[in-house]
Amino acid sequence: MFQDTKLLPPDPILGLTKLFQDDPRSEKIDLGVGVYRDLRGATPVMKAVVQAEANVTAAQKTKAYTPADGAPGFGPAILDLVFGKDSNILSSGRAAAVQTPGGCGALRLAGELLNTQGAASLTLGEPTWPNHVPLLSAAGLKLNSVPYYDRDANGVDFAAFKAGVSRLGANDVLLLHGCCHNPTGADLSIEQVDEIANMAAAQGFLPLIDAAYHGFAKDLDADAYMIRKFSADLPEVLVTYSCSKNFGLYRERTGALIIVGASADRAAAVKSQAISLARKNYSMPPAHGGEVVAEILSDPALSKLWREELTEMADRVRSNRQLLERTAQASGLHNRLSFVADQAGMFSLLPLSEDQIRIMREDYGVYIVGGGRINLCGVNEVNVEHLVRAYKAATSA
Ligand SMILES: Cc1ncc(COP(=O)(O)O)c(C=O)c1O
Repeated sequence: MFQDTKLLPPDPILGLTKLFQDDPRSEKIDLGVGVYRDLRGATPVMKAVVQAEANVTAAQKTKAYTPADGAPGFGPAILDLVFGKDSNILSSGRAAAVQTPGGCGALRLAGELLNTQGAASLTLGEPTWPNHVPLLSAAGLKLNSVPYYDRDANGVDFAAFKAGVSRLGANDVLLLHGCCHNPTGADLSIEQVDEIANMAAAQGFLPLIDAAYHGFAKDLDADAYMIRKFSADLPEVLVTYSCSKNFGLYRERTGALIIVGASADRAAAVKSQAISLARKNYSMPPAHGGEVVAEILSDPALSKLWREELTEMADRVRSNRQLLERTAQASGLHNRLSFVADQAGMFSLLPLSEDQIRIMREDYGVYIVGGGRINLCGVNEVNVEHLVRAYKAATSA
């Protein structure tokens, strides 16, 4: 069976991490990995999670299978968080949630659901998170891309995006990033979200909103704007939700596929299809992360603590953005990196060629993934001047 099986090269981001670890230079900077890191470079377990885990473990009486839609209480808690407790979408029963193994599991399940329900195509803005392509094409969908980001202007190219979106019709699907666009950090403005919602209403395409950074752009309510607006204006919306970043539950593989249907009855039908597809694949999601999230969101004190910790993480990334902008200004780069301060989430795309990325790594020990994406968590008061020096040298070479 496997005598001719080819050995695949390692994942490029993991390869970069290994290069970074092996680099003996003390001034080296890791801007590559895609997780939140604190000032010491650690990805800590949130205090709210530690307490919730203790409660969950103490209360646990069985390891018997969880229900097919995940840990009890998880789905309703995520729906409350995403739509707001008083939302009409919830009181009308139009929204349903299925717990999934992380946001990736939600994306794959969404892809399979769309494929089995006859989606003609799925359109992605370019660039997008690289894993969107294998996850959604492996589900059998035909993928198209439209321009999203202008690398010269360092911002959303809304005219080009809209032109691409204007060609979509009923049975097409448009993938959007809920907030904190990965890899660019450039989000649609509220007015632009409203325009895309109008186009979806007129043209009939289905939005699939990938929400992996809820709480990292402005706050939990503001960051849900796209989901709430689309769900209010359109009959059908899908959301893939990840608890990896905002609950720091990366390895617990905790996420959800959220289905908004034209009615409670339609949402229930689509949810039953999603559960059936999950059953043919991994059967049901791992319970632990879902139990922890449900525990946090149902306990006012834990919920308050979690919100404070999330705000602290988001504030740190925002202040790192400003630090980089200020330092670039002060060292003669004028406004060349000022776009970074206006963007959202952990990532921005620096306008660097592959050669310039190599120079920064080889000559200065600054590790950036191909394409120029940086994780702002890796920037701090101590290393920012070295980073700007490296950027200046690489871009003037
Ligand atoms: C844009 C985007 N979507 C989805 C995910 C999936 O997250 P998870 O780790 O929960 O599978 C990520 C994770 O990095 C992401 O950046």
